Amino acid sequence: MVEKTDQEVELLRQSALLVSKTLAEVGKMIRPGVTTLELDTRAEEFIRDHGGVPGFKGYRKYPSTLCTSVNSQVVHGLPSKNTVLKDGDIISIDCGVLLNKYYGDSAYTFQVGEVSESTRRLLRITKECLFKGIEAATARNRIGDLAYAIQQHAESNTYSVVRELVGHGIGTQMHERPDVPNYGRRGVGIRLRKNMVLCIEPMINKGKREVMEERDGWTIRTKDNEPSAHFELTVAVGEQRADVLSTFSFIEEKSNLN
Ligand code: MF3
Ligand code: CO
Repeated sequence: MVEKTDQEVELLRQSALLVSKTLAEVGKMIRPGVTTLELDTRAEEFIRDHGGVPGFKGYRKYPSTLCTSVNSQVVHGLPSKNTVLKDGDIISIDCGVLLNKYYGDSAYTFQVGEVSESTRRLLRITKECLFKGIEAATARNRIGDLAYAIQQHAESNTYSVVRELVGHGIGTQMHERPDVPNYGRRGVGIRLRKNMVLCIEPMINKGKREVMEERDGWTIRTKDNEPSAHFELTVAVGEQRADVLSTFSFIEEKSNLN
Protein backbone atom coordinates (compact mmCIF):
# COMPACT_ATOMS: atom_id res chain seq x y z
CA MET A 1 0.00 0.00 0.00
CA VAL A 2 1.49 3.31 -0.99
CA GLU A 3 -0.68 5.80 0.86
CA LYS A 4 0.28 6.89 4.39
CA THR A 5 -1.71 7.25 7.59
CA ASP A 6 -2.36 10.78 8.88
CA GLN A 7 0.22 10.12 11.62
CA GLU A 8 2.82 9.16 9.07
CA VAL A 9 2.08 12.32 7.08
CA GLU A 10 2.78 14.36 10.23
CA LEU A 11 6.13 12.60 10.70
CA LEU A 12 6.95 13.20 7.03
CA ARG A 13 6.04 16.87 7.53
CA GLN A 14 8.63 17.13 10.32
CA SER A 15 11.30 15.63 8.06
CA ALA A 16 10.24 17.87 5.19
CA LEU A 17 10.45 20.94 7.44
CA LEU A 18 13.96 20.05 8.55
CA VAL A 19 15.06 19.78 4.93
CA SER A 20 13.36 23.09 4.14
CA LYS A 21 15.20 24.81 7.00
CA THR A 22 18.50 23.23 6.02
CA LEU A 23 18.16 24.56 2.47
CA ALA A 24 17.49 28.04 3.85
CA GLU A 25 20.48 27.81 6.19
CA VAL A 26 22.75 26.86 3.31
CA GLY A 27 21.09 29.43 1.05
CA LYS A 28 22.23 32.20 3.41
CA MET A 29 25.85 31.22 2.66
CA ILE A 30 25.54 31.43 -1.11
CA ARG A 31 27.77 34.14 -2.60
CA PRO A 32 30.67 34.31 -5.03
CA GLY A 33 33.73 32.64 -3.45
CA VAL A 34 31.99 30.02 -1.33
CA THR A 35 32.78 26.38 -2.11
CA THR A 36 30.17 23.67 -2.43
CA LEU A 37 32.04 21.69 0.23
CA GLU A 38 31.50 24.54 2.72
CA LEU A 39 27.76 24.35 1.99
CA ASP A 40 27.80 20.58 2.48
CA THR A 41 29.65 20.80 5.80
CA ARG A 42 27.15 23.34 7.16
CA ALA A 43 24.18 21.28 5.98
CA GLU A 44 25.37 18.16 7.78
CA GLU A 45 26.04 20.10 10.98
CA PHE A 46 22.60 21.77 10.85
CA ILE A 47 20.79 18.47 10.25
CA ARG A 48 22.60 16.73 13.14
CA ASP A 49 22.00 19.70 15.47
CA HIS A 50 18.29 19.20 14.82
CA GLY A 51 18.29 15.49 15.61
CA GLY A 52 18.39 14.18 12.05
CA VAL A 53 20.95 12.45 9.90
CA PRO A 54 21.82 13.22 6.28
CA GLY A 55 19.53 11.20 4.03
CA PHE A 56 21.75 10.94 0.96
CA LYS A 57 25.07 10.12 2.62
CA GLY A 58 25.73 6.43 2.18
CA TYR A 59 22.74 5.97 -0.12
CA ARG A 60 24.17 3.83 -2.93
CA LYS A 61 27.56 4.95 -1.59
CA TYR A 62 26.79 8.64 -2.22
CA PRO A 63 29.51 10.46 -0.24
CA SER A 64 27.85 13.77 0.74
CA THR A 65 24.94 15.43 2.50
CA LEU A 66 23.95 17.64 -0.43
CA CYS A 67 23.83 17.36 -4.17
CA THR A 68 25.22 20.66 -5.49
CA SER A 69 24.71 21.05 -9.25
CA VAL A 70 26.05 24.20 -10.91
CA ASN A 71 24.86 25.71 -14.23
CA SER A 72 24.77 22.91 -16.82
CA GLN A 73 24.87 20.27 -14.09
CA VAL A 74 21.34 18.95 -13.65
CA VAL A 75 21.47 16.88 -10.44
CA HIS A 76 23.76 14.78 -8.22
CA GLY A 77 26.68 17.23 -8.34
CA LEU A 78 29.29 16.30 -5.73
CA PRO A 79 30.25 18.98 -3.21
CA SER A 80 33.95 19.80 -3.53
CA LYS A 81 36.51 22.23 -2.16
CA ASN A 82 37.45 22.84 -5.79
CA THR A 83 34.02 24.06 -6.83
CA VAL A 84 33.99 27.78 -6.05
CA LEU A 85 30.76 29.64 -6.83
CA LYS A 86 31.08 32.72 -9.00
CA ASP A 87 28.91 35.67 -9.92
CA GLY A 88 26.19 34.69 -12.40
CA ASP A 89 26.12 30.98 -11.51
CA ILE A 90 23.00 29.05 -10.60
CA ILE A 91 23.20 26.13 -8.20
CA SER A 92 20.64 23.43 -7.49
CA ILE A 93 20.96 22.29 -3.90
CA ASP A 94 19.20 19.03 -3.17
CA CYS A 95 19.02 17.83 0.43
CA GLY A 96 17.73 14.73 2.14
CA VAL A 97 17.30 13.96 5.83
CA LEU A 98 16.23 11.02 7.94
CA LEU A 99 14.38 12.07 11.10
CA ASN A 100 12.34 9.73 13.34
CA LYS A 101 12.62 7.00 10.68
CA TYR A 102 11.05 9.14 7.93
CA TYR A 103 12.81 10.82 5.02
CA GLY A 104 12.62 14.39 3.81
CA ASP A 105 13.86 15.44 0.35
CA SER A 106 13.70 18.84 -1.34
CA ALA A 107 15.71 21.00 -3.72
CA TYR A 108 15.99 24.64 -4.73
CA THR A 109 17.96 26.36 -7.46
CA PHE A 110 19.67 29.46 -6.10
CA GLN A 111 21.19 32.43 -7.92
CA VAL A 112 24.77 33.47 -7.17
CA GLY A 113 25.18 37.25 -7.35
CA GLU A 114 23.75 38.77 -10.54
CA VAL A 115 22.22 36.18 -12.88
CA SER A 116 21.26 36.87 -16.51
CA GLU A 117 17.66 37.67 -17.34
CA SER A 118 17.33 34.55 -19.51
CA THR A 119 18.55 32.27 -16.72
CA ARG A 120 16.25 33.94 -14.21
CA ARG A 121 13.40 33.12 -16.57
CA LEU A 122 14.49 29.46 -16.57
CA LEU A 123 14.35 29.42 -12.78
CA ARG A 124 10.94 31.06 -12.68
CA ILE A 125 9.40 28.72 -15.22
CA THR A 126 10.90 25.62 -13.57
CA LYS A 127 9.46 26.61 -10.21
CA GLU A 128 6.11 27.24 -11.90
CA CYS A 129 6.36 23.73 -13.41
CA LEU A 130 6.69 22.32 -9.91
CA PHE A 131 3.58 24.17 -8.75
CA LYS A 132 1.63 23.02 -11.85
CA GLY A 133 2.54 19.48 -10.81
CA ILE A 134 1.46 20.14 -7.22
CA GLU A 135 -1.91 21.50 -8.42
CA ALA A 136 -2.47 18.20 -10.22
CA ALA A 137 -1.58 16.09 -7.14
CA THR A 138 -5.19 15.40 -6.18
CA ALA A 139 -7.05 12.15 -5.55
CA ARG A 140 -8.42 10.45 -8.67
CA ASN A 141 -6.04 12.28 -11.02
CA ARG A 142 -3.48 10.00 -12.60
CA ILE A 143 0.28 10.35 -12.42
CA GLY A 144 0.21 11.19 -16.14
CA ASP A 145 -2.01 14.21 -15.46
CA LEU A 146 0.59 15.59 -13.07
CA ALA A 147 3.44 14.76 -15.46
CA TYR A 148 1.62 16.31 -18.40
CA ALA A 149 1.02 19.55 -16.48
CA ILE A 150 4.75 19.92 -15.84
CA GLN A 151 5.82 19.03 -19.39
CA GLN A 152 3.23 21.30 -20.97
CA HIS A 153 4.38 24.34 -18.97
CA ALA A 154 8.06 23.70 -19.71
CA GLU A 155 7.72 23.05 -23.42
CA SER A 156 5.23 25.85 -24.07
CA ASN A 157 7.93 28.12 -22.67
CA THR A 158 10.56 26.71 -25.08
CA TYR A 159 12.35 24.57 -22.49
CA SER A 160 12.91 20.81 -22.40
CA VAL A 161 12.23 18.18 -19.77
CA VAL A 162 14.88 15.74 -18.54
CA ARG A 163 13.53 12.19 -18.94
CA GLU A 164 16.19 10.04 -17.31
CA LEU A 165 15.46 11.15 -13.75
CA VAL A 166 12.08 11.33 -12.08
CA GLY A 167 10.38 12.21 -8.80
CA HIS A 168 9.24 9.50 -6.43
CA GLY A 169 7.20 8.45 -3.46
CA ILE A 170 8.83 8.91 -0.04
CA GLY A 171 8.37 7.44 3.44
CA THR A 172 10.60 5.19 5.50
CA GLN A 173 12.58 4.80 2.25
CA MET A 174 13.84 7.80 0.33
CA HIS A 175 12.62 6.37 -2.94
CA GLU A 176 9.28 4.61 -2.87
CA ARG A 177 6.68 3.88 -5.49
CA PRO A 178 5.38 5.49 -7.59
CA ASP A 179 7.82 7.09 -10.01
CA VAL A 180 6.79 10.69 -10.67
CA PRO A 181 7.95 11.61 -14.19
CA ASN A 182 8.00 15.19 -15.41
CA TYR A 183 6.67 14.26 -18.84
CA GLY A 184 3.67 12.19 -19.79
CA ARG A 185 0.18 11.97 -21.14
CA ARG A 186 -3.11 12.85 -19.50
CA GLY A 187 -5.16 9.95 -18.21
CA VAL A 188 -2.19 7.56 -18.15
CA GLY A 189 -0.50 5.88 -15.19
CA ILE A 190 -1.56 4.98 -11.67
CA ARG A 191 -4.44 6.76 -10.03
CA LEU A 192 -3.50 9.06 -7.14
CA ARG A 193 -5.05 8.47 -3.74
CA LYS A 194 -5.32 10.68 -0.66
CA ASN A 195 -2.16 10.57 1.53
CA MET A 196 0.17 9.26 -1.13
CA VAL A 197 3.32 11.25 -0.36
CA LEU A 198 5.24 12.34 -3.45
CA CYS A 199 8.46 14.19 -4.18
CA ILE A 200 7.78 16.23 -7.31
CA GLU A 201 11.03 17.45 -8.84
CA PRO A 202 11.09 18.87 -12.36
CA MET A 203 14.52 19.13 -13.97
CA ILE A 204 14.16 21.60 -16.84
CA ASN A 205 16.79 22.49 -19.44
CA LYS A 206 17.17 25.75 -21.30
CA GLY A 207 18.45 23.86 -24.36
CA LYS A 208 18.04 20.26 -25.42
CA ARG A 209 16.74 17.58 -23.08
CA GLU A 210 19.67 15.15 -23.40
CA VAL A 211 21.88 14.61 -20.37
CA MET A 212 25.04 12.64 -19.64
CA GLU A 213 26.97 11.45 -16.61
CA GLU A 214 30.26 13.11 -15.75
CA ARG A 215 33.37 11.05 -15.09
CA ASP A 216 32.94 11.21 -11.33
CA GLY A 217 30.18 8.61 -11.74
CA TRP A 218 27.53 10.84 -10.13
CA THR A 219 27.07 14.26 -11.68
CA ILE A 220 24.44 14.49 -14.41
CA ARG A 221 24.83 17.41 -16.82
CA THR A 222 23.27 18.63 -20.05
CA LYS A 223 24.95 17.37 -23.22
CA ASP A 224 24.74 20.79 -24.86
CA ASN A 225 26.18 22.52 -21.76
CA GLU A 226 23.18 24.86 -21.50
CA PRO A 227 21.90 25.57 -17.98
CA SER A 228 19.40 23.38 -16.14
CA ALA A 229 17.16 24.13 -13.15
CA HIS A 230 15.67 21.85 -10.49
CA PHE A 231 13.10 22.45 -7.74
CA GLU A 232 11.66 19.75 -5.48
CA LEU A 233 8.94 19.71 -2.85
CA THR A 234 7.25 16.89 -0.94
CA VAL A 235 3.46 16.79 -1.00
CA ALA A 236 0.70 14.58 0.38
CA VAL A 237 -2.03 14.00 -2.20
CA GLY A 238 -5.33 15.53 -1.04
CA GLU A 239 -8.97 15.23 -2.09
CA GLN A 240 -9.28 18.84 -3.22
CA ARG A 241 -5.67 19.99 -3.12
CA ALA A 242 -2.27 18.65 -2.15
CA ASP A 243 -0.89 19.25 1.34
CA VAL A 244 2.58 20.68 0.67
CA LEU A 245 4.85 19.27 3.39
CA SER A 246 8.12 21.01 2.56
CA THR A 247 8.33 24.71 1.82
CA PHE A 248 10.47 27.37 0.18
CA SER A 249 9.17 29.99 2.63
CA PHE A 250 12.31 29.85 4.83
CA ILE A 251 14.43 30.47 1.74
CA GLU A 252 12.26 33.17 0.30
CA GLU A 253 11.50 34.71 3.72
CA LYS A 254 7.79 34.66 3.27
CA SER A 255 5.81 32.89 5.95
CA ASN A 256 2.53 32.27 4.16
CA LEU A 257 3.53 30.90 0.76
CA ASN A 258 5.44 28.03 -0.72
N1 MF3 B 1 17.52 13.95 -4.22
C1 MF3 B 1 17.60 12.84 -5.08
C2 MF3 B 1 16.20 12.45 -5.41
O1 MF3 B 1 15.39 13.28 -5.28
C3 MF3 B 1 18.30 11.73 -4.47
C4 MF3 B 1 19.72 11.91 -4.41
S1 MF3 B 1 20.33 10.38 -4.56
C5 MF3 B 1 21.85 10.43 -3.92
O2 MF3 B 1 15.87 11.38 -5.77
F1 MF3 B 1 22.37 9.30 -4.20
F2 MF3 B 1 22.48 11.41 -4.45
F3 MF3 B 1 21.76 10.54 -2.66
CO1 CO C 1 13.91 13.46 -4.68
